[in-house]
Amino acid sequence: MLLLLPMASSVVVASWIVLGLVMATSTTKVEAARAFFVFGDSLVDNGNNNYLATTARADSPPYGIDTPSRRATGRFSNGKNIPDFISDALGSEPVLPYLSPELRGNKLLVGANFASAGIGILNDTGIQFINIIRMFRQLQYFAEYQGRLADLVGNDEAQRIVSDSLVLITVGGNDFVNNYYLVPFSARSRQFSLPDYVRYLISEYRKLLMKLYDLGARRVLVTGTGPLGCVPAELAMRSPSGQCAPDLQRAASLYNPQLVQMINGLNSEIGATIFIASNTQQQTNDFISNPGAYGFITSKIACCGQGPFNGLGLCTVLSNLCPNRAQYVFWDPFHPSERANGIIVDTILSGSTDYISPMNLSTLLALDYQTRT
Ligand SMILES: *[C@@H]1O[C@H](CO)[C@@H](O)[C@H](O)[C@H]1NC(C)=O
Ligand SMILES: *[C@@H]1O[C@H](CO)[C@@H](O)[C@H](O)[C@H]1NC(C)=O
Repeated sequence: MLLLLPMASSVVVASWIVLGLVMATSTTKVEAARAFFVFGDSLVDNGNNNYLATTARADSPPYGIDTPSRRATGRFSNGKNIPDFISDALGSEPVLPYLSPELRGNKLLVGANFASAGIGILNDTGIQFINIIRMFRQLQYFAEYQGRLADLVGNDEAQRIVSDSLVLITVGGNDFVNNYYLVPFSARSRQFSLPDYVRYLISEYRKLLMKLYDLGARRVLVTGTGPLGCVPAELAMRSPSGQCAPDLQRAASLYNPQLVQMINGLNSEIGATIFIASNTQQQTNDFISNPGAYGFITSKIACCGQGPFNGLGLCTVLSNLCPNRAQYVFWDPFHPSERANGIIVDTILSGSTDYISPMNLSTLLALDYQTRT
């Protein structure tokens, strides 16, 4: 059963101080030229997997049902995903998937999305999806992209575009859901106790972040994993009572603080604020425990799916589909709805340091604008 599931993901569910976005809006236009690069898994993939022979894809209805064209694009959402809302805040058009043939000429200046549903920090995560773009390969593509950009605008300008860009990386949830906990007695769970596995993931993640830095990234937003045990898929498979599955919750609560610690360590080693940690563990609790406060009717039942909590199998035209997507935290068994994604990004933009540290995205954009003019 588990093997038939599509991508999983660190569901970055948030709690969201929905502050006014006044500051974000005012930085929007001046930052229009800032490029945006995206790395990670299905939470942020916007169509790369459409070009691959893999089962981890979202290119058929009802995915995309709430977009203007009502067409599925490869985003694991009924509408916009997290990168789309960040592009809005930057005043840019959405970035294209790196594998899209449309990504050429001036489109390269907008940035690129290298994410691929199903991947994790580790190469052996998501092996059941066969052909997906693992992290080391996403980073190779980033280097390749920079060569293409340099052909267009010259080396110096290409380097400036990359160092002035914003980068988002969302990865890690699949290393639990589609690896350690994929099957009972998985290879990784026989190799490592959970605390040792978490330490191993963090040390591998650190290498990936350093590689991004070496490739020229200077502003990198890093999201932690959300409430892995609370997503409808896990409720359906592990927790008929509807309580969040304890082993996955424990994994997330070990992983997230160590991620923040690792990021702080990297920043102080480099001597600059390169990495910004989005503390999704903190965000999670309010959102899941009090969906009504954010205008949702449920955080347990997926809008699109089947079985208990609509949490089993794939979201397809044959699934149950809720009439009003805006009332659901989860669009499918693993991924937030468009509206939930928007609230997550509001928190990234305007949240306090409990949610995003050392500063929120609005503050960061305003700061960079000052130093660049
Ligand atoms: C993943 O595979 C690539 C290519 O084989 C390799 O360079 C990299 O070190 C591997 N990463 C891990 C964490 O094993
Ligand atoms: C976050 O952003 C808002 C504006 O969007 C700002 O007013 C606030 O001071 C910021 N919070 C912190 C803790 O940086």
